[in-house]
Amino acid sequence: MSQPTPNIESVLHEERVFPPPEDFSSRALIGSMQEYERLWQEAHDAPEEFWARMAEELHWFKRWDTVLKWEPPHAEWFVGGRLNISYNCLDRHLETWRRNKAAIIWEGEPGEQRTLTYGQLHAQVCRFANVLKREGVTKGDRVALYMPLIPELAISMLACARIGATHSVIFGGFSTQALIDRINDAGCKLVVTADGGYRRGSEIKLKPAVDEALKETPSVKGCIVVRRTGTRINMQAGRDYWWHELMETVSANCPAEELESEHPLYILYTSGTTGKPKGILHTTAGYLLQTHLTTKWIFDLRDEDLYWCTADIGWVTGHSYVVYGPLSNGATALMYEGAPNYPEADRFWDIIERHRVSIFYTAPTAIRAFIKWGEHWPLRHDLSSLRLLGTVGEPINPEAWMWYREIIGKARCPIVDTWWQTETGAIMISPLPGATPAKPGSATRPLPGIEVDVMTRAGQPVGEGEGGYLVIKRPWPSMLRTIWGDDERYRKQYWSEIPGVYFAGDGARRDQDGYFWIMGRVDDVINVSGHRLGTAEVESALVSHEAVAEAAVVARPDEIKGSAIVAFVTLEGSHKSSDELKETLRRHVTKEIGALARPDEIRFTDALPKTRSGKIMRRLLREIASSGSVAGDTTTLEDFSVLEKLRADEE
Ligand code: PRX
Repeated sequence: MSQPTPNIESVLHEERVFPPPEDFSSRALIGSMQEYERLWQEAHDAPEEFWARMAEELHWFKRWDTVLKWEPPHAEWFVGGRLNISYNCLDRHLETWRRNKAAIIWEGEPGEQRTLTYGQLHAQVCRFANVLKREGVTKGDRVALYMPLIPELAISMLACARIGATHSVIFGGFSTQALIDRINDAGCKLVVTADGGYRRGSEIKLKPAVDEALKETPSVKGCIVVRRTGTRINMQAGRDYWWHELMETVSANCPAEELESEHPLYILYTSGTTGKPKGILHTTAGYLLQTHLTTKWIFDLRDEDLYWCTADIGWVTGHSYVVYGPLSNGATALMYEGAPNYPEADRFWDIIERHRVSIFYTAPTAIRAFIKWGEHWPLRHDLSSLRLLGTVGEPINPEAWMWYREIIGKARCPIVDTWWQTETGAIMISPLPGATPAKPGSATRPLPGIEVDVMTRAGQPVGEGEGGYLVIKRPWPSMLRTIWGDDERYRKQYWSEIPGVYFAGDGARRDQDGYFWIMGRVDDVINVSGHRLGTAEVESALVSHEAVAEAAVVARPDEIKGSAIVAFVTLEGSHKSSDELKETLRRHVTKEIGALARPDEIRFTDALPKTRSGKIMRRLLREIASSGSVAGDTTTLEDFSVLEKLRADEE
């Protein structure tokens, strides 16, 4: 290494290369590396002209005056322009034959199906936009959406966008406290929810969590409830209203507001290195442009495709690649509400076969689960409709990539391994399926317009094949604009770690072909089943329990989930360690954050290993959690006996 870059050492050496199949390239939107290079170079030489040319594809009420105003670290894109993302996703297709094309094909976990054409979706969105207005929601207000994966969630998002309200989708797996924190942080005026949804054959109730939360969310004036499961719920007169009743009282005519390019589209909370989740703010034009383009380029979308991204809309992947990207392209998107293993482990393959899905985009954690469940499940289905596969959310190990290619793609379908983040809004590094030769485990090259690099902590580019920090060197249209209510944190977290560039928080290396290999997070953020969690969040949930004095949470590699959560806990004086207490603490975390944050392992200890300055030595805990021994340097440890004790507990 040219300069030491602690903790980042690249060990993966993968030599296999898979060029795109010829028949794929010959029909692809971008069909060769020359074409990719040409676009990339054009964007590199004159980025603003490039993005302006690309933005011609969108519908504008008024064209922009200035492409980019960049006052680091704040960017404004397409200044002076006016547009509406809901108009771009709906209205502009209505003037074409796509009016009667399926926009959404939805399947519930119990098996029911609904199809909404662009015309029908438009009518629903207009009606719900009118409902929102009637409830007093106006431009700039925030609306919390806490729903299962049902069409009404997409309808709600598009309705908010239509009138200029800012949506904040809160994943249905989060619990009451997480809901309270997010609603209060954004000061939401209204909550849209459902009685419940289905997951793995059971009903997951949502409304009771909302009822609890609304006791502590003074900004909320009303709650609209979709009837999904029909379960008995409490409806508070004057506050709670049924979706289906309100929808009957309004017209289906609601022209889209002409919004400024930088109008706030949504807030989406994601984990950082402190206990408080960050409200990532995305705005309208730049976000739309990049989700639109990446969906088109990377998924090589055609009108005859049936595109399925399996992500929940509660995460950014669902925002960009279930809702906005596909709809702005006039695609047909499949949505499935439930679990991949209900009623059996072949539900996904069954869906692909029955609906003739052609593009399938999922997460490495799901692929690893499929491998574990056995290839006989996919092999009993006709998957010949598939022509393109994708992954997102975490590094994919080459063996899982190969399994995906062989067993699901039958060695015919290109695989796009797409790197991006909640903060980037859209995919940044990915193969173009008709152009880029794939290497298993690499997200390959940055997209045109995206300038990424690997640097040392001091901001020096590292050499070929060396590990370092992944950075983005130029502003991009779909970048986050700030952290809601905390611009200082935005500045510090993303633009000060390495001055002058965006700090992604991932380790990476670049090989001799300019391919990027992402090595995972370099901060205290862990990736559990493709969901991002801050260790500090889990720690503060644990410490909020009366029995806990101190807690340190680290990740241990897990074959299926990517990372498992291991919590080291010291107890308050009078409390004794026991299996019951472990279970109580696990339940406590589930209640505070949600089941996704539930520790896989809790280990009680007398004290935590700390440096002389009092910092918890997580590296040691990580080593103990994953291997049971400590090999690294321990000279800064305050109390060696603590380490001995932890090690002894392992045996
Ligand atoms: O560590 C990277 C990992 O997921 C993080 C972003 O998480 P989140 O904001 O929740 O968004 C997930 C969906 C975009 C990144 O910092 N990550 C995402 N995609 C990949 C990845 N790591 C390796 N390869 C990927 N393709």
